[in-house]
Amino acid sequence: MKPKIVSIVGARPQFIKLAALGPVLSKSFHHTIVHTGQHFDDNMSGLFFRQLRIPRADRNLGIDGGSHGAMTGRMLVRIEKALLEEAPDFALTYGDTNSTLAGALAAAKLSIPVGHVEAGMRSFVPDMPEEINRKLTDHVSEILFCPTPTAVKNVRAEGIRKRVVLSGDIMYELLDHSRTRILTNDRILKEFKLKPKGFLLLTVHRAATVDSRTNCEALLDIIRDLPLPVLFPAHPRTRKRLRQFKLTSALRKCRHLRMTAPMGYVDTLAAAARARVVLTDSGGLQKESLFLGTPALILRDETEWVETLKQGNHLVGLDRKKIRRLMSTRLTVRRVHYRIRGRLPSAIIIDELSRFLAVEHG
Ligand code: UD1
Repeated sequence: MKPKIVSIVGARPQFIKLAALGPVLSKSFHHTIVHTGQHFDDNMSGLFFRQLRIPRADRNLGIDGGSHGAMTGRMLVRIEKALLEEAPDFALTYGDTNSTLAGALAAAKLSIPVGHVEAGMRSFVPDMPEEINRKLTDHVSEILFCPTPTAVKNVRAEGIRKRVVLSGDIMYELLDHSRTRILTNDRILKEFKLKPKGFLLLTVHRAATVDSRTNCEALLDIIRDLPLPVLFPAHPRTRKRLRQFKLTSALRKCRHLRMTAPMGYVDTLAAAARARVVLTDSGGLQKESLFLGTPALILRDETEWVETLKQGNHLVGLDRKKIRRLMSTRLTVRRVHYRIRGRLPSAIIIDELSRFLAVEHG
């Protein structure tokens, strides 16, 4: 009988990583999916499952909202129950959300070995929720699939001596597979009347960026100052904050701003590929835009993806002057290579899992 692996996911960036790995996992293992429910709007969840052809989750735990502790706690209870019923040989978690941490913790406490896809990323900002999630997940995992050499170095520096595997970045693999679909998609350009390389793509969603009034006001100033039309698919958290800080009507007055609902994978990346520059605080989009040949200005003071800074991205925080200065220069990007010694990330991950499970169950 094939070993059983359960993937625990809950938020948008995890669906993308699962889309890359899921089909390959299903070939070698009995693979099931547990969705915590953290992201629940259709354009944050269902749309990604459909567009990326991810099979329906075997279980949806329906947990969303609440404080971090409450959300993570409820997830822990429900994931534990799901794992007891599923009885997998291995649990896979992805990225750095509350769903990642709850999944890893629930599995580890049941002595189910855990693998962490996108292990070792560090911002070195200790109180950032994502940093807490990814650090704790790494420390309870049996196999750490690190996308970059820096990630390997980070976990080694924390004294982790378990299986630390340089797998390469699974998100680039999905992007490579989807390249034609992305580059032939003109829907967004037509709908928002945008010209190739004649607009900017803006996304922000992190608590650290949008949860303070000062930051949201700085963001408004940045938008006012941008020299081209701005496409802004706004995350639910961001919308909520802009409403709370009463900035929505000021934003509406920005004639060059096209604010819209969150967009699907293909539309977002089609926009990223056609934009002159991407402005974002997203971990995923800063890499994806680079891969598609568009530089990203990262709206944070630090990044986990330090390699991208050598490839054409820039850290700008919420510094309007710095953004303006960079926008007036010619920004270029370097080609991204993601295979590790010619091998695809998914192949490296599957091999390592097969070896581990053969030893455990063989
Ligand atoms: C989460 C992750 C973050 C990841 C991001 C990707 C944590 C701590 N953060 O942040 O690491 O980069 O997902 O998008 O896990 N909401 C909706 N509809 C939805 C989803 C959320 O209305 O489909 C609302 C929630 O009720 C909440 C707010 O948006 O009020 C924020 O959602 P939440 O899941 O807490 O965190 P994200 O900001 O999405």
